[in-house]
Amino acid sequence: MPNNIETQILIIGSGIAGSITALQLSEWFDDIIVITKNLDPTESNTKYAQGGIIYKGEADNPELLTKDILDAGCLINKKESVELLAKKGPELVEEILINKLKIDFSKNKDGLLDLTEEGGHRCRRIIHHKDYTGKMIEEILINQIKNKKNIKLLTEFTAIDLITSTHHSQNPLDIYEDTEVLGVYALNKDTVYKIRANVTIIATGGIGEVYLHSTNPQSATGDGIAMAYRAGARVINMEYTQFHPTTLYHPEAKRFLISESVRGEGAVLKDVNGKEFMKNYHTMGDLAPRDIVTRGILQQMLKTKKDFVYLDFGPIGSKTKIKERFPNIYNTCKKYNIDITEELVPVVPSYHFSCGGVLTDINGQTTLKRLFAVGEVACNGLHGANRLASTSLLEGLTFGYKTAMYIKENWNNYKKIKKYDIPDWIITGHQKIDKTLLIQDWMFLKTLMWNYVGPIRSAKRLNRALKDLLHLRNITEDFYFDCYPDKELIEFRNSLQTAYIITLSAWKNKKSIGSHYRED
Ligand code: SIN
Repeated sequence: MPNNIETQILIIGSGIAGSITALQLSEWFDDIIVITKNLDPTESNTKYAQGGIIYKGEADNPELLTKDILDAGCLINKKESVELLAKKGPELVEEILINKLKIDFSKNKDGLLDLTEEGGHRCRRIIHHKDYTGKMIEEILINQIKNKKNIKLLTEFTAIDLITSTHHSQNPLDIYEDTEVLGVYALNKDTVYKIRANVTIIATGGIGEVYLHSTNPQSATGDGIAMAYRAGARVINMEYTQFHPTTLYHPEAKRFLISESVRGEGAVLKDVNGKEFMKNYHTMGDLAPRDIVTRGILQQMLKTKKDFVYLDFGPIGSKTKIKERFPNIYNTCKKYNIDITEELVPVVPSYHFSCGGVLTDINGQTTLKRLFAVGEVACNGLHGANRLASTSLLEGLTFGYKTAMYIKENWNNYKKIKKYDIPDWIITGHQKIDKTLLIQDWMFLKTLMWNYVGPIRSAKRLNRALKDLLHLRNITEDFYFDCYPDKELIEFRNSLQTAYIITLSAWKNKKSIGSHYRED
């Protein structure tokens, strides 16, 4: 394959948001490229979403869903985005996921879609496939993409930087114009490709790797945020980092998500003395919004002087019921010798989701021309200060679809593109990276973010974090430019950039709200 590629549409990321955008656009365009840095294109945050996706409950309506999203988001959401999702989202679930893709959502004993509940919802409106909804959806989406002749799926392509008219054009006069995004430089094995596109869509997902404890996969390194920021796009609300209340606490386990739907089905939180405590923190008890449950757990851990609390699956029902409804959680805990049908399960909060991101309007348009963003990497104001459970898959579906429609309807604005003179990627260094240095840098970054920019923040901690991050950034930039392009180093640099943006936003915002909590 030549290392200069041209396409109409370039999508970076293959989770639900990127995949839906690609599939929708494939109805009208001949030439779409989806790149993912992973070998397995299903590897994404989508794959690990357990709980489900919002559809509609019995006495439900878009106004009620709007209210729940606004309440969880502490009313700093953008209402237009919330209303769009609340109205259009469930329609798309039916049209695309249920009717077109025939996703096998779990049914109840009457053969109807089984509705479950999670924190912050006033009714049961979430559909699911047991406890691995995201995996089920993602595998079908990627199969569909593989079967489309007009979508080229390039795996192991790591985006390095967006190509922009103002940064990369060889014509000095172009810097006086508005920035246009022209594609991306991407690394595959030892080659850097220049992929030029009329439209570029970032769908790179989350940022969990900046934290020591996270529910996200290793690939969640904030690449889209960092690249968009470096290119000059606006990035907002990054202090609103959501922590999930319940992840498995076990010395040998990475923090494995224990879905909120477990509590939706009746499980209760107990402290180490076996006492239920969430009613002391919120009238909705165990099903209060996530930020409140997270802080409730942390306070209870402080009171009991223990590093965890327990989740009691008992109230859900019989052993068979628990195993059938939550096979993924059952099997994973079993690997660590915990039988969720018989024992209390030790849990702690971990980092989960970024409510902020690259600023977009409801059509996915960022502040840079020809650049769109969809899914977790984007921030159209839907989540406000804290995301309502089971809105993330729905966000990817709704805004992926909406963005595709917008691009199709406005293609006249994108189809012609100035002939910029864009050079190939310039390799600045030829050293191989020293992995030992990189491992230490990762540990430093993750621990610092967890301890100073975690669920409970203060000016003192944030100040310290900013200083340490600046120092680390200086070292990393030297390291980066001395070395031959390397996937891990690119990811680390992006995570560091993202961590800095989160910390600066948290430092600037002195008001505790939603998932941003300052004890000072
Ligand atoms: C969960 O299953 O608890 C996670 C779902 C979500 O983050 O929306």
